[in-house]
Amino acid sequence: MSRCYNFAPGPSTLPLPVLEQARDELLDFRGTGCSVMELSHRSREFTEVHNETQALLRELLGIPAEYDLLLMQGGGHMQFSMVPLNLLGKGNVASYIVNGTWSRKAAAEAARFCTVHVAAENPGVAAPSQDELRIDPRSSYVYYCDNETVHGVEFGYVPETGGIPLVADMSSNILSRPFDIRRFGAVWFGAQKNFGIAGLAIAAVRHDLIGNAPDSCPVMLNWKSYSDKNSMLNTPPTFAIYIANLVCHWIKREGGVKELERRASVRSKLLYDAIDGSDGFYFGRVEKESRSRMNVTFWLKEDALSGLFIEEAAKEGLRNIKGHRSIGGMRASVYNAMPVEGARELARFMNDFARRHG
Ligand SMILES: Cc1ncc(COP(=O)(O)O)c(C=O)c1O
Repeated sequence: MSRCYNFAPGPSTLPLPVLEQARDELLDFRGTGCSVMELSHRSREFTEVHNETQALLRELLGIPAEYDLLLMQGGGHMQFSMVPLNLLGKGNVASYIVNGTWSRKAAAEAARFCTVHVAAENPGVAAPSQDELRIDPRSSYVYYCDNETVHGVEFGYVPETGGIPLVADMSSNILSRPFDIRRFGAVWFGAQKNFGIAGLAIAAVRHDLIGNAPDSCPVMLNWKSYSDKNSMLNTPPTFAIYIANLVCHWIKREGGVKELERRASVRSKLLYDAIDGSDGFYFGRVEKESRSRMNVTFWLKEDALSGLFIEEAAKEGLRNIKGHRSIGGMRASVYNAMPVEGARELARFMNDFARRHG
């Protein structure tokens, strides 16, 4: 077996012990004689996995009882629609901080349902500062993306909204640092980057904000449907929930979110040091204080070498570092499951490549 260091932006690398456990349990899940994929979602065994996953996430993220934890399908894009459908209530304005691909897409989707007020805009090189935010006081909610995955821009603070419910997309940095959920009305995240596989999206929503969708809201897009039925209103993505469960156990064993935060800063520092120490051979476009700890984006001064860089890296087992097609360059996604050693290897390769071609 030869596993690479996989820097893919999502779906992305999983902890090896999680994959090994899934393999070991694949044919006979804990004495049931079938795979977890073959079990009824209403079976005792799966119900245990389902409830335990919610409990583990609550524990790891510090989510108290006044927030509902909803397990859904449909990925991030479905949340782009669910947020306005569920939070506008009687209002028809929402403020969006737009500083990258995913907040832009979320704002475009919300514009189908309401007037979107852009509270701040940035082309993807920085997280707007608190002073730059112009929030429309009529807003039913204020929305932002805590870590913009394509550009590699991460917020270093939680925006202050003057009492208007704050909503965050934390898909690409969830569980990588502690945060105080009480600052938020809702936080949502897809599983496929930091704690699992595609097919599962989770929202933690303050309970009093649930139940405000219009009657015309489709059942599957109404957070209340999930809240009322413990996220079991129909067949949930059982295998994705099972993998999330294994990842949560792995995070606990490794030392919890604080330890993942420590690793995230070590990994990203290794890579940013390689960029900054390359004498311009590599360069980034994101302002230093907004640099993402999860998605390290950079370009080669001599763009003609980019193909060779990707090819040689792959030969050394450092894969999927090509940047997003919309902005080019390189992107090393270093999520929770990426070992520090993977970032060290990539930094070593970058230094070596620069020495040979600089
Ligand atoms: C921060 C963020 N939000 C939303 C999405 C969209 O998620 P999905 O592909 O599950 O719709 C992505 C995808 O990469 C993302 O990185």
